[in-house]
This record gives sequence, structure tokens and C-alpha cells, in this order.
Amino acid sequence: MKLFVIGNGGREHALVWKLAQSPRVSKIYCAPGNAGIAQLAECVPVQVDDLPGLQAFAKAQSIDLTIVGPELPLSLGIADEFRKAKLRIFGPTRNAARIESSKSFAKELMVREGIPTAASRTFDSMDAAFMWLESCDLPVVVKADGLAQGKGVIICGTKVEAQEAVKSMLSDQQFGEAGAKVVLEEFLEGEELTVMAFADGRTVIPMIPAQDHKRIGEGDTGPNTGGMGAYAPAPLATPELQKRILEEVLYPAIRGLSRTGSPFYGVLYAGLMIKNGKPYTLEFNARFGDPETQVVLPLLQTDLLDIIEAVVEHRLDQIHVAWQKQAAVCVVLTSEGYPGSYPKGLPITGLPEKTTDSVVVFHAGTTESDGAVLTNGGRVLGVTALADTIRSAQQRAYASLAPIKFEGCYYRADVARRALSDLSEN
Ligand SMILES: Nc1ncnc2c1ncn2[C@@H]1O[C@H](COP(=O)(O)OP(=O)(O)O)[C@@H](O)[C@H]1O
Ligand SMILES: [Mg+2]
Repeated sequence: MKLFVIGNGGREHALVWKLAQSPRVSKIYCAPGNAGIAQLAECVPVQVDDLPGLQAFAKAQSIDLTIVGPELPLSLGIADEFRKAKLRIFGPTRNAARIESSKSFAKELMVREGIPTAASRTFDSMDAAFMWLESCDLPVVVKADGLAQGKGVIICGTKVEAQEAVKSMLSDQQFGEAGAKVVLEEFLEGEELTVMAFADGRTVIPMIPAQDHKRIGEGDTGPNTGGMGAYAPAPLATPELQKRILEEVLYPAIRGLSRTGSPFYGVLYAGLMIKNGKPYTLEFNARFGDPETQVVLPLLQTDLLDIIEAVVEHRLDQIHVAWQKQAAVCVVLTSEGYPGSYPKGLPITGLPEKTTDSVVVFHAGTTESDGAVLTNGGRVLGVTALADTIRSAQQRAYASLAPIKFEGCYYRADVARRALSDLSEN
């Protein structure tokens, strides 16, 4: 089979890496890809939001199946367009992807289906939002309704901060269309957890629970990023909690979307806050998470193509998904200045010659020029290590990244530390 993967980050490298292991795959193309993906797939210079360009490529190359990494093309309706053109594609329709692309849509769904989540109100007028802020508890969370690349959520400790956040979205239009509505919600305390699941509109198969590290600084300090590292399985997710997440969050969401005529085919990502052992949903995403995918897919034993095809053909109930009894830790290496502005085009040295069973270096923001690998983004690499325990996977990940160098390279030295303290508490 000829596959076409859309995207250019660590998530897409992990997808291509896993799919390349399938005996049924003869060739993988990736648009636009990166230097790491180029070792496994043929990269084509088409951008992820160029829907006509992507479709023309899939037609011209007689692609058997297209797999979408990022949210942007999904929210633009790539799955609808491909299906209309009789091209097989893995990913939800535009309507189903609203579970990610509109936080107010997701909130309405959660309330309708009884999915536990923070109490919230949606506003499109400043006056009404300000009035509500007069009597709400603090801190309060202000969220832009639409896609904002992880920058649309502001946790406000005072009423004035909350007013400023609302104004930046509704009046100053700092988030463009994405900020035309705001969701104001109750602040939840607890520990965050990610559970991704395969879904075919009816059946839901959860993946191994993971935790990521959103903040730039050690000890979860400083501004939010796309994600500085991840580990799986998360010790926080006991079998009992996993069962609750499946029954109280994932199944109700999938059923609710089907009932309203927008069945969800793809990967549903639940971003959860665990408080007193109970899962509250902070948000849904309509695709694989990054960096979580870089720890979850290496633990997947089943052929990913078999699962993806079962989703596309709506027969996920016939699939058994098996996982390795190991732990995985991924440490993300970033450019100096990230998540603010950062340089590009710096040479990277010390990359391992080849991947092993226990260490894979996934590329995110990299490019190749005259045989040299150069930095090309904020998040540059994700170094994933597998071992029998989280602790040894963590040690292996840090040992493996030590030889990798580029000017200004930064990473958090405390990835997976929380898992170790959760383990010692249990
Ligand atoms: N109600 C809430 N209470 C506490 N923290 C929250 C709440 N909502 C969001 N957050 C924090 O903000 C982060 C981003 O929010 P999220 O809803 O996941 O939006 P996005 O990923 O689109 O930026 C979360 O990972 C969490 O750390
Ligand atoms: Mg999130």
C-alpha cells in the first residue's frame, strides 16, 4: 500500500516510523515532512493547509490511504474533501473536528452528554462577559473559542487580568476569528492526564495513558509550549480511572457526535484534569497529540495500519490492540528563545547513526541541506527511550540526548519526575 502522511512534526515522524514497520506498506509520502521523516518517506513540498494541493498529490500518486497529523487541515475539512473525491483518509470530518476547533461546541457536547468538565459560560459580547466576571470565583480560565496553537488559554488570578484577557480576544482580536467567542470557565486543581483513543463512530479503543509537560521551565514554571516531553504509561491512571475515562468521557463523546449526525472517525484526544480520582475533561483534540504520540506509538505492538484501516472501514470492533509492557519517556529539545522567537538553520551534530529497539530520535523542526541536518523550528527533536520502568527509560533518554548538540539547545531536565513521585506515593 502507498500511504500519505500529512504534517511535519515529531508526531508525524512517530506516525511514519510506526507505519513503516507494517509489512503491507510499500511506500510512504509525507507533506511537507522534515529531515528525520525523509529517512523513511519521500517528502513532498505541499503545506498542510493546501487542501487542493494535497488532494491533487494523492490522486496523481494513486495513494491508498492518507493519514492526517495536525488539526488545521481537519478543521478546514480535508476529510470531507478527500471522501468526496473517493480518496481514503484517516481523520474526522470538519463537523466532527469541531470537538477541537470550537471549545464552545465541545462544552455544549460535554454538558449534553453529562461528561464531567469545568463549569463554564460562552460569550461573544464584552459587556455580558464582564458582567459574569463580576461574580465569578478566582482564578478563572479564559479560553479563545477557536484554534490558537496552544496560546488561546489564559489562567487569570484577578478580575482585571480576566477582563484584559477577554478584551484581547473579543475586542482587540489578538486571536483573529478564533477569539470571536470566549469560554470562561472554573479553574480546576489536580493533575493532568492525556488519554487518546481510536474511534470509528461506534467503537472506542483507548491508548496507553500519557502525561506531557506543557510549561517551558522545570517544575512546571514559565510560559506554555507545544509540549516539552512526555511519558507513558502514566502511573496516575489506575485501571479503575482508565475505566471511568472510557465510560464517562470517551464513549459519551463519541456517542454524542454520532447522535448529532457527525460521527467521529479518527483519534480522539481527551485532555483531562484528575481531581480526587475523578476525571474532568479540559478539552478534546481531534487527532494524535504531540509529544504524547512519541511515547505512545513506540509502545504499540499491533500494526498501526491494521488499526487505522479498521477505523476507516468502521470495523474497529474486530481489532485487538496490544501494548508492550514497557515504559517510554520522551525529552523534547528546543531552540533558544522558544516558545518566543528563535533562530533557525543551526547545524545539529551528534545524532545517532540509526535507531535501536530502545531509543528513537524523532525529528520535529529539522531540515536537511547539503547532507547536514539543521534546526528549523521551536521544537527541534524528541528523544524517546524505552525500558522496563519509567526510571530507567528516563535515564536512557537523558543519556541518549547528551551527545546531540546545536547552538542554544534547551531541554527540561525533569521530564517524568512527576511519574516517579506518583509511583512512590502509590
Ligand atoms: N479549567 C481549567 N482549570 C485549570 N487549568 C486549566 C483549565 N483549562 C485549561 N487549563 C490549563 O491550560 C492548558 C491549556 O488548556 P486547553 O483547554 O488544553 O487548551 P489548548 O490545549 O487548546 O491550549 C491545560 O493543559 C491546562 O494546563
Ligand atoms: Mg490542551
